[in-house]
Amino acid sequence: TRTHRIAVLPGDGIGKETVPESLKVLDAAARRFGFDLTLTHYDWSCETYRQTGRMMPADGLDQLAQSDSILLGAVGWPGVADHVSLWGLLIPIRRGFDQYANVRPCKLMPGVRTPLADRTEADIDFYVVRENTEGEYSAVGGRMFEGTDREFVTQQSVFTRQGTDRILKYAFNLAMTRPKKHVTSATKSNGIIHTMPYWDERFAAMAQQYPDVRTDQYHIDILCAHFVQHPDWFDVVVGSNLFGDILSDLGPAVAGSIGIAPSANINPERRFPSMFEPVHGSAPDIAGKFICNPIGQIWSAALMLEHLGEAEAGRTIVAAIETLLRESGPKTRDMGGQAGTADVGTAIAELVAAR
Ligand code: NAD
Ligand code: IPM
Ligand code: MN
Repeated sequence: TRTHRIAVLPGDGIGKETVPESLKVLDAAARRFGFDLTLTHYDWSCETYRQTGRMMPADGLDQLAQSDSILLGAVGWPGVADHVSLWGLLIPIRRGFDQYANVRPCKLMPGVRTPLADRTEADIDFYVVRENTEGEYSAVGGRMFEGTDREFVTQQSVFTRQGTDRILKYAFNLAMTRPKKHVTSATKSNGIIHTMPYWDERFAAMAQQYPDVRTDQYHIDILCAHFVQHPDWFDVVVGSNLFGDILSDLGPAVAGSIGIAPSANINPERRFPSMFEPVHGSAPDIAGKFICNPIGQIWSAALMLEHLGEAEAGRTIVAAIETLLRESGPKTRDMGGQAGTADVGTAIAELVAAR
């Protein structure tokens, strides 16, 4: 039988609640479709940081490199500064494994209520493709004259030609697989005078290679407005690390709930494991109550199975999520229900087993 090695990192907060639900569903899918998953559990988190002064061991990436894919919950907890926890675990994995394509579907699912009036499933179905290794998320810069009245900080954005071209290419290739074949570029070349004009230049050059793909571009500010007013305009939206981050919370919000949004951190060349995690974070405000929505985590696990070549199993999990949302199955509070996290996970696992 086919065996896939999965590194499981629940991380912090509700990650510890959502990941077990995704494992229930993965187990049901493995039985149903006849493959094996070898799970290796890692408890790296802000608790690890408090105990050891590090978010993960010095050889953490070497350990993870032994896996075929990584399933992550969320990282970050009050008491440890976010830039310390995230730059100690999540961001080193994305960068160390060259997971440069952060792919985030924004899709209004049947039975889910969008906050936008008069919008239906046909209107909200697009991808945010986010650059995931460079751009505004850079370690270049720092603080000078600390503590004096001349104190200042700088933060350099880094856009390499290879890094820019490869994410644009990924977006165009994704668009080629979609009926609309349309790519929108998120820019800000009116205000940001070095990196963004360069981004536009590389986007135009890449567009030349894809004559079948229709393209347009908007400055990030009005693009946010268009996500709300015209979500039907979009098919594949490509953006830098920071712009893609912002758009990939806005997109799922217009599609109903951040709690169901999945994400894939892909190393397209498959030299390293890819990582799958929900878009949301550790939600300290509701953690420990077991009321969070596990669907973003479960959908991320479905994307992982697709990446591992278990496409039918992945599709079956997404279909089970759709069935649960459309019918009167258990729903968590963010979706207007009263169910607990485990009720939703169990219901989806049962649907996967039964299909
Ligand atoms: P968040 O996504 O954790 O929470 C934002 C709001 O959405 C909260 O009100 C929360 O209760 C709600 N929410 C999030 N996920 C939900 C779910 N599954 N079901 C129901 N409600 C849900 O964002 P934040 O508050 O900005 O960040 C909290 C911590 O998580 C910070 O430390 C942040 O850095 C970290 N974070 C980590 C990741 C990640 O690991 N990929 C992503 C985002 C934020
Ligand atoms: C995300 C998160 C992370 C990001 C944070 C926690 C560093 O917001 O995965 O979207 O900005 O990439
Ligand atoms: Mn984010």
